[in-house]
Amino acid sequence: MLNVSERLGEPILDSMHFLNEIVERYPQAISFAPGRPSADLFVVDESLELLRKHAPTILGKPGLATDKALNEIAQYGRTNGIIHHHVARQLLQDEGLTIDPEHLVITNGCQEAMFILLLTLFTPSRDVLVATEPVYQGITAAAKLLGIQTVPICLRADGPDLDELSMAIQALRREGKVPRALYTIPDFDNPSGNTTSLQTRQRLCALARRENMLIFEDSPYRMLRYEGAPPPLLKAIDPEQVVLLGSYSKTLFPGLRIGYLSGDVEVSLSGRVVPLSEVASKAKSLSSINTSPLMQATLAAQLIEKGHRLGAHVAVLADHYRGRRDALLAAMERHFRFPRDSSGVHWNRPEGGFFVTVHVPFEFSMQTMRECAATVDVITVPLSLFAFATAHDRAMRLSFSAVPYDDIDEGVRRLSSFVTSFAARSGSRLGIPA
Ligand SMILES: Cc1ncc(COP(=O)(O)O)c(C=O)c1O
Repeated sequence: MLNVSERLGEPILDSMHFLNEIVERYPQAISFAPGRPSADLFVVDESLELLRKHAPTILGKPGLATDKALNEIAQYGRTNGIIHHHVARQLLQDEGLTIDPEHLVITNGCQEAMFILLLTLFTPSRDVLVATEPVYQGITAAAKLLGIQTVPICLRADGPDLDELSMAIQALRREGKVPRALYTIPDFDNPSGNTTSLQTRQRLCALARRENMLIFEDSPYRMLRYEGAPPPLLKAIDPEQVVLLGSYSKTLFPGLRIGYLSGDVEVSLSGRVVPLSEVASKAKSLSSINTSPLMQATLAAQLIEKGHRLGAHVAVLADHYRGRRDALLAAMERHFRFPRDSSGVHWNRPEGGFFVTVHVPFEFSMQTMRECAATVDVITVPLSLFAFATAHDRAMRLSFSAVPYDDIDEGVRRLSSFVTSFAARSGSRLGIPA
């Protein structure tokens, strides 16, 4: 019998399997588990029509016949993508961010961008990835598969704990290791929902510069803001130190599989200073040759149609998700009537994105998740699934993006009754309902 790589034995891979199994076993349950965008908001038909309409313009050849343009699009294309000019224009219009299009790398979703960064910037025995915890396992599991060490620092309500970050950097240096980059999601983090404050953004960028460490800024939820003004991107604060990772999965639809990385930071290759995009291109060509040009063109057609501004489109999505967030928070207030200070039950109020963290006074494990699904037909995800050093075992992630609006109140009511009875059985005192 052939042995597979030991790296595939990582516990996180089993946890994901377990989670999928529970979701499949209780199809009738009200599920706050999947962090998916709502399919009601996808614009697939329209996008395919726009592809035909704008095919010549996508290529920058407005006079070309549509069939010729489509055939040209369908050919093997430039490794770093064919729609870099369109993405750069959108970033300029929606974010005020100037990135040289030649340095953008269009990837198969943001997930491939992560792999490319890990492959190109890390020597596994020496270079370490620091990541905020609880963490999006897409990055830590990818690092594990590549044999790259990861070190957690705590993500607080206002962003990464910078004292912990400084200490982690010094400790790694003492061991002869190189803290190469910090991975973080400053806007509406997955899983916590937390957003990094302006002050922490500025201090984080200053620290990264002092320590000569890159920051990987993952931004898939950034445009889904439901209140308040957005703080600047880390990339806008320090363009030279930050690699921006972007995705159209949440703003258009995930089946596009289009993301990007900003490859404009300078790196050293055999003693030569080159833009990251140049080395990323080597990894990209081996990982997937290029990102499906048909899907790239489908996205570009939407960008052209919308004048390279997603603001108006995203405002519609934001209305939809804001309604669900507000319904979830109102249901929490209505049904989780335990004293906030003494019960150990509390939750945050995300300003955008898809996720709320709920803390409870007992361990909410995978087993508890199964019991919750079996007894009250509600599925939520233990926060411990997003842990890699600290336990995070008394909290869960509730996603409001894909749950039907009319199920939210009932789902929270049932969850509250489960929390009450589980707390009583486990000896936790929730106090008298307020
Ligand atoms: C924080 C974060 N980064 C990246 C991704 C993957 O995005 P993509 O669909 O662009 O690969 C996700 C998906 O849920 C995510 O939550």
